[in-house]
This record gives sequence, C-alpha cells and structure tokens, in this order.
Amino acid sequence: MRTIPLFTGVPVRALFLACLAGAAVAQDRTTEKGEAQITDPNQECTPYTYPPTASQLGNFPPIFTVASVLANDSEAIAMWNSISGKIPTNIEPKGLPNGSTIGVTNYNDTTDPDCWWTIHQCTTPKLAGLPNDISVVPEPRTLGYAFDDGPNCSHNAFYDFLASQNQQATFFYIGSNVMLWPLEAQRAFADGHEISAHTWSHHYMTSLSSEDAFAELWYSLKAIKVATGVTPTSWRPPYGDVDDRIRSIANALGLSTVVWAVDSRDWDFPTITQQAVDTDYQNLINNVTAGTYNTQGTIMLTHELNNFTMSEAVKWHSGLMSAFSHIVPIGVAYNKTQPYLETNFTQSNFSQYAAGQVGIKSSGAAPLIFGGMAPLLVASVAMLVGLFL
Ligand SMILES: *[C@@H]1O[C@H](CO)[C@@H](O)[C@H](O)[C@H]1NC(C)=O
Ligand SMILES: *[C@@H]1O[C@H](CO)[C@@H](O)[C@H](O)[C@H]1NC(C)=O
Ligand SMILES: *[C@@H]1O[C@H](CO)[C@@H](O)[C@H](O)[C@H]1NC(C)=O
Ligand SMILES: *[C@@H]1O[C@H](CO)[C@@H](O)[C@H](O)[C@H]1NC(C)=O
Ligand SMILES: *[C@@H]1O[C@H](CO)[C@@H](O)[C@H](O)[C@H]1NC(C)=O
Ligand SMILES: *[C@@H]1O[C@H](CO)[C@@H](O)[C@H](O)[C@H]1NC(C)=O
Ligand SMILES: *[C@@H]1O[C@H](CO)[C@@H](O)[C@H](O)[C@H]1NC(C)=O
Ligand SMILES: *[C@@H]1O[C@H](CO)[C@@H](O)[C@H](O)[C@H]1NC(C)=O
Ligand SMILES: *[C@@H]1O[C@H](CO)[C@@H](O)[C@H](O)[C@H]1NC(C)=O
Ligand SMILES: [Zn+2]
Repeated sequence: MRTIPLFTGVPVRALFLACLAGAAVAQDRTTEKGEAQITDPNQECTPYTYPPTASQLGNFPPIFTVASVLANDSEAIAMWNSISGKIPTNIEPKGLPNGSTIGVTNYNDTTDPDCWWTIHQCTTPKLAGLPNDISVVPEPRTLGYAFDDGPNCSHNAFYDFLASQNQQATFFYIGSNVMLWPLEAQRAFADGHEISAHTWSHHYMTSLSSEDAFAELWYSLKAIKVATGVTPTSWRPPYGDVDDRIRSIANALGLSTVVWAVDSRDWDFPTITQQAVDTDYQNLINNVTAGTYNTQGTIMLTHELNNFTMSEAVKWHSGLMSAFSHIVPIGVAYNKTQPYLETNFTQSNFSQYAAGQVGIKSSGAAPLIFGGMAPLLVASVAMLVGLFL
C-alpha cells in the first residue's frame, strides 16, 4: 500500500501534467473530509495508507482471519481473564467457522437448549441473566434502519444520499474492513450515524472457542476505536449466528446483541434476482400499510456490501419513508442516548430524532473529528442560534 502525497509539496507542474494525462489529482486521501469527496468508485476502492491505523496493524490479528488474542496483548488478556469465569463451559462450539454444520450431531433442534438463533431464530436466551436480543423496535410504524458489513470502500454515493435526506442509520462494521478503510469508518461517525460492531473477521461465532469469540468482538471494538475514537456498545452476529455462550461473552463486554426480524436478502444477489429483493422491500411496505407494525416497529436486514445492496437502499428509501412513520437508527428507537462507551458523545432520543434533531453530538469541548457532511457542525451552529428546544 502506498501514500499519495497531496497538498504537501507536489510540484505544480506534476499536478498539471497529471491533469493532462487525465489521472486523478487533488484527492486528499489523508483525511475523512478528503476521502468523502471522492466520487469514482474505482478511486474510492484504491487502497491508501492512514498512519494512525496502519501503525496499529501489529496489534490486531491478520485481516479477515479468525481472531485469537495476541500473545503480547496484555489488555485483551486481562479482559478475557476478568470475564472468562462468567462464560458457560457446558455449551460446545457448533460446526465450522465457514458455517458448515459438520460435527453438529447431538444438538436437539426441537428443544433448542442454547437458544441458537440459526435454528429457529430464538431471541429469548435460556441462560439466566442475559437480556433478550434486539430484533424489532418498540416504536409503532418505525423502521430500525441498519446496514451490515461495511465500511465499503465505495460507499460515498450511498452516504451522500443519506446525508441529502438527513437520514441516519446504524452501521454494523466488520473490524477488518475498518482497518482497511478507516477514513470510511470516520465518515460514518462524522455524518452522525450510529456505529456498531460486526466482529473482526465475519465468521460464524458459535463455531469458535469462547476465547476466539471474545477476540472477534474485542478486536472489532478496538478497530472502531482506533479509527473513530469511539467504542460501540452493541453488535450484530454475522449470519445471526449466536447462542447463549456467545451472548454471554458479548454481554460481559457490555454489548447488546442485535439481530433482525425481516430479511431483504440483498446479500444473496446475484444468486437471487434483483426482482426478488425488490419484492422483499415491497412486501415490507405492503405490511406496514396493512397495519402489521401498528403496535411495534421492525428491523430489516440490509447491507453496505456492494453497489447492488446500496443502490437498492437508495432506491427504496422514499417508499419506506412514505410507508413508515419513522426511519431511525436502532439505538434511537430505544432512546439509547449513549451509544458508545465514551460518555462525551450522545445520540438523539426518539422524540428528538423525530423532531429533526439527528446525529451524534459531542458534549465535550470539541468534536473528536471534524469533516464530512457535517451534521455535527450544523447541530452546533443551530444550537448557537437556539433552534433546539
Ligand atoms: C505485539 O507484537 C507484534 C508483532 O508480533 C508487534 O507488531 C506489536 O507492536 C506488539 N504489540 C505490543 C503492544 O507490544
Ligand atoms: C467449510 O470448511 C470445511 C473444512 O475446510 C469444508 O470441508 C467445507 O466444505 C466448507 N463448507 C462450506 C460451506 O464452505
Ligand atoms: C429432543 O428433545 C425432545 C424433548 O425432550 C425429545 O422428545 C426428543 O426425542 C429429542 N430429540 C433428540 C433428537 O434427541
Ligand atoms: C409480510 O407479511 C407476511 C404475512 O404476515 C409475511 O409472511 C411476510 O414475511 C412479510 N414480509 C415482509 C417482507 O415483511
Ligand atoms: C465494495 O463495493 C464495491 C462496489 O460494489 C465492490 O466491488 C467491493 O467488492 C466491495 N468491497 C467489499 C470489501 O465488500
Ligand atoms: C453504483 O455504481 C454506479 C456506477 O459506478 C454509480 O454511479 C452509483 O453511484 C453507485 N451507487 C451506489 C449507491 O453506490
Ligand atoms: C422513548 O421515548 C419515548 C418518548 O419520547 C417513549 O414514548 C418511548 O416509550 C421510549 N422508548 C423506549 C424503548 O424507552
Ligand atoms: C428526549 O430528550 C428530550 C430533550 O433532552 C427530553 O426532554 C426527553 O425527556 C427525552 N425523552 C426521553 C424518553 O428520554
Ligand atoms: C471524549 O472522551 C475520550 C475519552 O473517553 C477522549 O479521548 C476524547 O478526547 C473526548 N472527546 C471530546 C470531544 O471531549
Ligand atoms: Zn454480515
């Protein structure tokens, strides 16, 4: 990977010649704000080096491989030692990290003793002391709006669209993607979205040893912290694959477990057709109209995975807006005003969001990161002129 020096002594003549050659120029790939302005997906997806995260790569497992606690990571070791006594040892790992159920022979699918989501979408743990998973939102006619598997390098068009709609969402980020695309992760934060964790390497969590499952969560949180300055307090299991053993690890780390109630199946394109995904979106809208969500709202599984999934999100946003009364980040739907461990960042509660006050605010002296589409700045200015009640 290489750094492209910009605005830092690049001879004017070289820029001029590059212009003549039609090459990309004047792109700042060193800041969130610069990166957010690139519009060509191929340029967005050209790797760059961001020293604050690149210099930390040695403190993380290899990108997209199943995490294990690093031998010299004393902080992770201390954390694991402090929680491991609370993790059940009578729930065995299930199957393989790639989702194969080879080896799962004696699990009773009928009684589902471990509340294994993958079998019957169980969200009510059987192990005492664990909160229920979040799979819906309590507010009527409300969509908990969330996208998995980012940050995707080519997400600027999608995030520009969301900003143009003054729309925030929850983003379940894969730690490995955050380390590859840290400025894209910063953009989510700068735009006021709610950042949540989606493991380090996106494998089936119930297949892993408890210590490796801990490491998957730990390093995804660390990656988000290194890139954005904040530490999420919620996560979503890849493929929904969670059981009471994995829930207890997440719970010990202060993470609430978020799944979903409806699947857009956008992730399965092109195995399934665009029309099939469109039908899923349309059925959700039809169900809202039919009154299905008049007493409580819902969460649909959708992705920041590639151009198709993001284009579907853009295409269906207005239809969802017309059908639902509210489309909000999941934490907002739960009045979760403190989405991160760092207490100096607060998120709107539901009524504030509904009244148009969207985005994450810093209650500290200054935002950690400036830039992006700047709901932060808009919020600060609006506050100064007393627009908020
Ligand atoms: C741990 O070891 C790796 C090399 O394996 C190194 O890159 C990293 O800086 C070390 N981290 C700490 C905290 O010592
Ligand atoms: C998962 O990995 C195992 C062992 O490498 C392999 O036998 C199996 O075919 C893989 N399954 C899938 C679904 O990729
Ligand atoms: C699963 O548990 C039920 C209820 O205890 C029992 O009737 C059934 O035989 C069990 N199935 C297997 C495959 O053990
Ligand atoms: C819509 O409601 C029907 C009937 O309850 C249900 O079978 C279907 O899964 C729902 N579809 C979506 C996308 O919500
Ligand atoms: C991001 O989206 C682009 C455009 O669809 C796609 O080519 C790329 O593979 C995606 N990257 C990741 C890491 O998913
Ligand atoms: C999808 O790709 C096309 C072609 O590169 C691009 O114009 C469009 O903005 C992309 N859409 C999204 C939502 O990323
Ligand atoms: C969130 O706050 C609203 C009032 O603004 C209230 O009606 C709602 O019950 C609260 N939701 C939760 C989950 O606490
Ligand atoms: C939401 O925030 C407003 C403004 O701070 C506050 O008046 C209201 O009580 C809050 N609602 C809930 C449910 O916390
Ligand atoms: C927020 O708190 C963290 C420590 O929890 C600190 O590193 C950061 O500088 C603070 N940011 C602001 C804007 O106050
Ligand atoms: Zn995923």
